Amino acid sequence: MSNHTQELLEESRQGEATLLNAITASGNRKLYLESYGCQMNFSDSEIVASILSEAGYDTTKNLYESDVVLLNTCAIRENAEQRVRQRLKDFQGLKKSNPRLVVGVLGCMAERLKEKFLEEEKLVDLVAGPDAYRALPDLIAEVETGQKAMNVLLSLEETYADINPVRMGSNGVSAFISIMRGCDNMCSFCVVPFTRGRERSRDPESIVKEAQELFDNGFREVTLLGQNVDSYLFYGGGPKKDFKQLSEEEKGRAVNFAGLLAKVAAVSPLLRVRFTTSNPGDMTDEVLETMAAWPNICKYIHLPVQSGNSDVLHRMNRGYDRPTYMNRIAAIRRIMPDCAISTDIITGFCGETEEEHKDTLSLMQEVGYDYAYMFQYSERPRTLAARKFKDDVAQEEKNRRLKEIIQIQSEWSLKRNQEVLGQTVEVLVEGVSKKSEEDLFGRTSQYKVVVFPKEQFKPGDYVQVKVHDCTSATLLGKALTS
Ligand code: SAH
Ligand code: F3S
Repeated sequence: MSNHTQELLEESRQGEATLLNAITASGNRKLYLESYGCQMNFSDSEIVASILSEAGYDTTKNLYESDVVLLNTCAIRENAEQRVRQRLKDFQGLKKSNPRLVVGVLGCMAERLKEKFLEEEKLVDLVAGPDAYRALPDLIAEVETGQKAMNVLLSLEETYADINPVRMGSNGVSAFISIMRGCDNMCSFCVVPFTRGRERSRDPESIVKEAQELFDNGFREVTLLGQNVDSYLFYGGGPKKDFKQLSEEEKGRAVNFAGLLAKVAAVSPLLRVRFTTSNPGDMTDEVLETMAAWPNICKYIHLPVQSGNSDVLHRMNRGYDRPTYMNRIAAIRRIMPDCAISTDIITGFCGETEEEHKDTLSLMQEVGYDYAYMFQYSERPRTLAARKFKDDVAQEEKNRRLKEIIQIQSEWSLKRNQEVLGQTVEVLVEGVSKKSEEDLFGRTSQYKVVVFPKEQFKPGDYVQVKVHDCTSATLLGKALTS
């Protein structure tokens, strides 16, 4: 294998799986935790580490000294699951040399496959779904008595509000805060409602407290996480309700997403606030106006469109059509002209015609996204689409359409970065650049990565940087001398 290929492989591995570690010097047992998939999973792993640390486990990044290995898995697309199965194969030798090793699977794939996992993958001792992490110490104890252990119960209430996440593998500058769990949307392609259960919102006081503690510990950025943050509504706890359904008393204390954003932003003007993911059907002008009113709420919105064609959106059960989506884009541009916008796109969904595909291309040209995550449709068992429609777009066709989408996006990513050339931007420094020890990297409010010479600056600093060059992925600049 060439060095270059090796490097690429290393890079992609790091992207797929981040090892979470914290070094401690106790005689505790050792936990090795690996996370796949979305930010919510990484955030959940910090909760898992916290629960297990209470039970006497220290996290390690050394697989070979671990007593317990847990994979926090993703089920969103078929290839995410294949990656996990491949990783489990890697563990076979490990288990042979240490038969007492406990191997567990957490997260969405665990929830999706349940006991089938224990049947299919003999190596796995433990299966725990996203709402069952408080039971992990008991589940591990059960495995140690020689049984297999499983808890895949989904909850209407669990938000882990009282758990103080262990910020492992963190850069000490930015952190995730889960503000809600589950999803009630039932997009026809999506497995998440099946794997993460019903939507429920977390107590805003516990969210603000967590943000304040992070700030006091030197963190300068929090990202509020939920599958559909715009439908956040805390009324006292329990499953999602619409505002209309609340009692007078519940209405009195209810906090919606705009209210939550303002509360978190009020922690400090030096704390940047981000959030993901917004839902085009639910995003209100009130949220946009709150963003505009607070300079420390970052001017960046991830607004997944999935398709540019209204019929496809209808088959996807997304709850909006193209004009409604474009109306939200217009509202963002009107209320925050400096806001960056990114999206998710699925190509080759059931029955997608060439014309419908072209509508996605034209929507991309109309919006001009700063960034996009682009996927081929992957059929997921139990979803509405799997039951109702045929996955009938040929693989070569999906490849070709995806290529066209990626091509348009890379042009726009470059164009959007070029617009920043010559400007001075405020960068929150996150760390040392991957390419050179002499450079730092950080992000603008718009989530654009900026690389610039280190000089006397350090992670956590806000630096005014003048941008002089760019690629489609990165802005290059130099700090202004003050
Ligand atoms: N609301 C969520 C969406 C989670 S899934 C959030 O917080 O991001 C992330 C993205 O994966 C979706 O927006 C969609 O573009 C893509 N995706 C979901 N299911 C998929 C499937 N079956 N095939 C291909 N892509 C899928
Ligand atoms: Fe999935 Fe749609 Fe919810 S994409 S996570 S069902 S908003």
